[in-house]
Amino acid sequence: MKPQEFRRIVILTGAGISAESGIPTFRDKGGLWEKYRIEDVATPEAFRKDPAFVLEFYNRRRRDLLKVKPNAAHYALARLEREYPGEVLLVTQNVDDLHERAGSRRIIHMHGELLKVRCEGCGHVFKTEEDILTTTPCPSCGKKGTLRPHVVWFGEMPFHLEEIWQALQGCDLFLAVGTSGTVYPAAGFVEIARRAGAWCVELNLEPSAVADLFHEHHYGPATKVVPAFVEGLLQRSKNFDTG
Ligand code: OAD
Repeated sequence: MKPQEFRRIVILTGAGISAESGIPTFRDKGGLWEKYRIEDVATPEAFRKDPAFVLEFYNRRRRDLLKVKPNAAHYALARLEREYPGEVLLVTQNVDDLHERAGSRRIIHMHGELLKVRCEGCGHVFKTEEDILTTTPCPSCGKKGTLRPHVVWFGEMPFHLEEIWQALQGCDLFLAVGTSGTVYPAAGFVEIARRAGAWCVELNLEPSAVADLFHEHHYGPATKVVPAFVEGLLQRSKNFDTG
């Protein structure tokens, strides 16, 4: 690892960090996009064409999420945020809440959250663990047929991009964990961070599509490589005066 102190760390996580908790990734063998077509469940057009089918896809994922638990990689990143003497910001593409359940607090869900629902009529966003049907009324405006998952679909703008861009511009360590590097804009974050002078580290099961842009790589299951990397970072930080 580069011998310097890191004052501001930005971590991008993807489906690979939750794989060992039992949530299937998108593009691995047996992944979600092998079973479903993106055009059928993850676009605004799909929702307009068959809202009941799209809602059921997310209802099933929401029910599955409630059955699983955070793993050692989620806990390690929460520990890093708690114990590191510099700033740590987590940006996740994941719509699960496993980072929060593990204790992470500074977190941006750029692709939304499975446990939140939005009313397309009045804009109200609320938390729920319940199934949403085309007949479920919005708890704020009372209209039916206007509720949708508060997730970002293909063709829609990810959330909080300005805040993420600012953080990438100002970070000196960028970590990407468990992401295939195939979906933009997230796949382009390494380029922004690198241009801003950050040391860039990829932690993944295998080289991602943008692996060449990282300075350092650690390949293996997230529950092994992430806790080991965090431990190293915390040990090294004891030798630095980050004040
Ligand atoms: P992908 O399914 O594209 O990639 C998952 C990555 O995690 C792959 O590179 C795997 O090698 C790696 N991986 C699998 N198991 C792992 C493990 N146990 N430990 C470490 N790494 C592991 O998922 P994302 O990159 O997150 O967007 O996908 C990005 C976006 O595409 C998602 O947010 C979603 C999807 O379509 C939307 O729905 C808008």
